[in-house]
Amino acid sequence: MSAQNQSVETLRWRDGRLEMIDQRVLPARYEYLGYQSAAETAEGIRSMVVRGAPAIGCTAAYGVALEALRLRNASPADFTAGMDKAFDVLAASRPTAVNLFWALKRMRTVWNAVKQQPLGVIAERLLTEAHEVKAEDIRINRAMGAFGAELLPDGARVLTHCNAGALATAGHGTALGVFRSAVEAGKRISVIADETRPFLQGARLTAWEMVQEKIPVTLITDNMAGHMMSRGEVDAVVVGTDRVAANGDVANKIGTYMVAVLARRHNIPFYVACPLSTIDLSIPDGMSIPIEERAVDEVKGFRDCVWAADGVSIRNPAFDVTPAELVTGLITEKGVVLLPDQKKLTELFCS
Ligand code: MRU
Repeated sequence: MSAQNQSVETLRWRDGRLEMIDQRVLPARYEYLGYQSAAETAEGIRSMVVRGAPAIGCTAAYGVALEALRLRNASPADFTAGMDKAFDVLAASRPTAVNLFWALKRMRTVWNAVKQQPLGVIAERLLTEAHEVKAEDIRINRAMGAFGAELLPDGARVLTHCNAGALATAGHGTALGVFRSAVEAGKRISVIADETRPFLQGARLTAWEMVQEKIPVTLITDNMAGHMMSRGEVDAVVVGTDRVAANGDVANKIGTYMVAVLARRHNIPFYVACPLSTIDLSIPDGMSIPIEERAVDEVKGFRDCVWAADGVSIRNPAFDVTPAELVTGLITEKGVVLLPDQKKLTELFCS
């Protein structure tokens, strides 16, 4: 299907199965793929059909529900064994986005609460919870969007890295949700999208989303950000995150750290849009956040086009860590935490 004039529903429940936009083929094609088990769903996450921390969390919740529905006529022992395996396979799909583990924990708590019920009732309850995780994500993104929009002046030229948009969430987006909300509030916002090597989420997904919304967007390669900042062409940076440690260090798509250092050099505010489900108080600092290393093929070239020399050694860390000291503010659904640190993040969960 043509990808023009499409509204973005990253994941949807249709005819008893989960459907997800295949983000690997955007923007050339707009297609949904169907999922009916936890193993299939985990593969969808691993292979990046769906990506972005909140979307991964929502998908994992549906993966648990799908498995419960699939096993609802099994014996109670087989159901329990199958569900435990489902949790394990989903947890192993990608390591960095903490929303995955947050969603699995939430689904296990629900399962535990209804464990004595007939299996059909358990499965329906888990499906209801998955729907709620999805609906809640959109509500949270709208709340973050409203807080974040207030930070951007009318006419702001805002740089973003990777895709923290509707495609990375159940809808609206985190960083791109801030832009959408600012535009809805009547502000003129223009976006500068980093291409985001090597998987090109900026060029393929952020640029596509903004074009669909008719929000002005300019695409640059990652190594152009410093030049743009030095010429006074960037007023603010807003990015998403996969995991924030207790001290406020932020893991996000590889290259974010470079952008944060450049922003500090040029006195440009660097904001991180971050639902509470992405804050991991159990991790003391960014050095302890597990960083996914992906296949070297992604760096060697793109799809069928290979440009790297044969025999060269390649690294492909998919995320980096921006120290809290470079973060101007975390935009959460409870408000903006300026200069985040351990005390402020701990208080956020108590307020
Ligand atoms: O590898 P990806 O595409 O899953 O990485 C996504 C990001 O780095 C996003 O910025 C992050 O998950 C926040 S999404 C709201």
